[in-house]
Amino acid sequence: MGSIDTVLFELRTFEPSRTFAAEAHIGNRLEYDTIWRQAQADPVTFWEESARNITWFSRWKRPLIWKEPYAQWFEGGTTNAAYNCLDRHLKEGLGNKTAIIWEGEDGSSQNLSYQALFEKVCQLSNVLEVKFGLKPGDTAAIYMPLVPEAIIAMLACARIGVVHSVIFGGFSGPAIRDRVQDAECKVILTADVGYRRGQEIELLKTIDSVMPEMPTVQNVLVLKRKTDTVLKEKHSDWNLLVDQEAKTHFPKPFDSEHPLFLLYTSGTTGKPKGIIHSTGGYLVGVSTTAKWIFDLKTTDVFWCTADIGWITGHSYVVYGLLSHGATIVLYEGAPFHPHPGRFWEIVDKHKVSILYTAPTAIRAFMRAGDEHPRKYQLSTLRLLGSVGEPINPEAWMWYHTEIGRGRCPIVDTWWQTETGCILISPIPGVTTTRPGSATKPFPGILADVVNEEGKSCSPNEGGYLVIKHPWPSMLRGIYKNPERYKEAYWTKFPGMYFTGDSAHRDDRGYFWIKGRVDDVINVSGHRLGTMEVESALVSHPAVAEAAVVGRPDPIKGQALVAFVTPRGDETKVSVKELVRELKEHVSREIGAIARPDEIKLTRTLPKTRSGKIMRRLLKDLAEGKEPTGDTTTLENQALIELIED
Ligand code: PRX
Repeated sequence: MGSIDTVLFELRTFEPSRTFAAEAHIGNRLEYDTIWRQAQADPVTFWEESARNITWFSRWKRPLIWKEPYAQWFEGGTTNAAYNCLDRHLKEGLGNKTAIIWEGEDGSSQNLSYQALFEKVCQLSNVLEVKFGLKPGDTAAIYMPLVPEAIIAMLACARIGVVHSVIFGGFSGPAIRDRVQDAECKVILTADVGYRRGQEIELLKTIDSVMPEMPTVQNVLVLKRKTDTVLKEKHSDWNLLVDQEAKTHFPKPFDSEHPLFLLYTSGTTGKPKGIIHSTGGYLVGVSTTAKWIFDLKTTDVFWCTADIGWITGHSYVVYGLLSHGATIVLYEGAPFHPHPGRFWEIVDKHKVSILYTAPTAIRAFMRAGDEHPRKYQLSTLRLLGSVGEPINPEAWMWYHTEIGRGRCPIVDTWWQTETGCILISPIPGVTTTRPGSATKPFPGILADVVNEEGKSCSPNEGGYLVIKHPWPSMLRGIYKNPERYKEAYWTKFPGMYFTGDSAHRDDRGYFWIKGRVDDVINVSGHRLGTMEVESALVSHPAVAEAAVVGRPDPIKGQALVAFVTPRGDETKVSVKELVRELKEHVSREIGAIARPDEIKLTRTLPKTRSGKIMRRLLKDLAEGKEPTGDTTTLENQALIELIED
């Protein structure tokens, strides 16, 4: 009872190549198996060992204090995230090493050394402390395009103990306002514009459209990329202020548990959750996994294509990579602009050795045709990664053959905004991979698949993915909402962290993650709460009620389908016009990523007698299937009546 059907079976296997294993940090399977077994038996000792990956100002007293559902890791230890990403590399003589290779959509590029990055971070830290009076524990929002200043902003906040909340540059005014006000941000760091698909994205205008509704914001620091941008009240010119500041700054020690950042993510209710991450434990998690899973070497050029607005950008563009003194690529632009080979051109141009991207992008490249990557050498690549959603075996094989040229291991990495770092993934020098499986938990991660009663499932039996022991980079709560934190993650299965994902394990113990079991949809690797989109729809005056469901989509993973009942009997405008207007409305309220792919206007929504919308039924309809399953509890047996022109 309550178990979930298992449909995906994939039997192809790929052994790590001998040459890769010979040079890998972790290349000996027997040794690794021993480490893994010990870590599963004693996760705390494993993580204490791993804590050596970062520099501490003072050592912790106790490695873990666990009072469910709250963990404290490395209690009493102090550190500084920016120090770990900058100063310590300068001390080791890496000042001239390239930290960031930035590539613009128009083909221009810029390299920033660790020394230059350090100086810019120090200058901005001084601005934030001295000019804006920010103190440790204050919050600041970062709403920026993918330019080096976005990373400089994050590190400057981290350096002075200010909690940053990065808001994805594609979010609209109301979405920014909700996040900024929930976090009570005092400062917003932004740019006048970003560039994508040859267009200007008006970031500052978007902020200005909701400025009157953000009373907590005292200052907006604007990176002017256009000379004619006019700054208004509360705006300050980034370059002007920064240039006046000293290029040094003393990094204060912060408690291991000091919050490093908030990141808002979708959940099952309309309001996004402000996920809280710590400093010490988070850094230990991301730097350890970056080293082991990506087999990171000093010579690597690492390109993670995620935006810094998502957790992947936080952990594997910024903190996990810079804490190792790695060279990272940052591309501000769209994958297919100005031509379908743009990504591969960048790989060759900057000699990328590790590429970390999302299945939705891989599927889009597949569809665009093999001729595009085939025009490029791609000979510098040695490892490929995938993240954000399940990768279907076809896309895995294409990635392996066309991009990895059969030579590069693939790490399919499962994790979440809440987990902070990767929790399930192959270790490329030792794990035999199976296309579509994230394989095994990282050492020290006690992942399991359980049934409705919380009992471990048998091999190949589907169930819920849970984690049974705290780990250092786990979330520390939901900002200002402890009840929701308990309810969302710790109530369904007492004593276990509930991921919200369904999965099964095969007879080798490999995990196959299928997707969400709650009202969260994964569109192009982005988590969207159906409730969030529904709230946006019903905020339109013409809408009485709305229900949003996901429909499988060959490229995006899932597409958003909205069922909407308009107010009154007659719509004033044509159905087509109203649908267009509602799609625009959602884009305005949340951002283009939440724009429904399809809106169906209906006279009623199918409900149970207790008034619950029957989503299962809507899902069937969205997929064009005859509704299956039990409909006896349906209040209105007429199902739904579509309104058409
Ligand atoms: O459903 C899982 C899916 O993405 C969700 C987490 O989304 P988010 O917090 O936005 O973080 C995305 C980047 C880490 C998970 O609950 N997911 C993520 N990675 C995978 C995945 N599903 C299957 N396989 C993966 N490798």
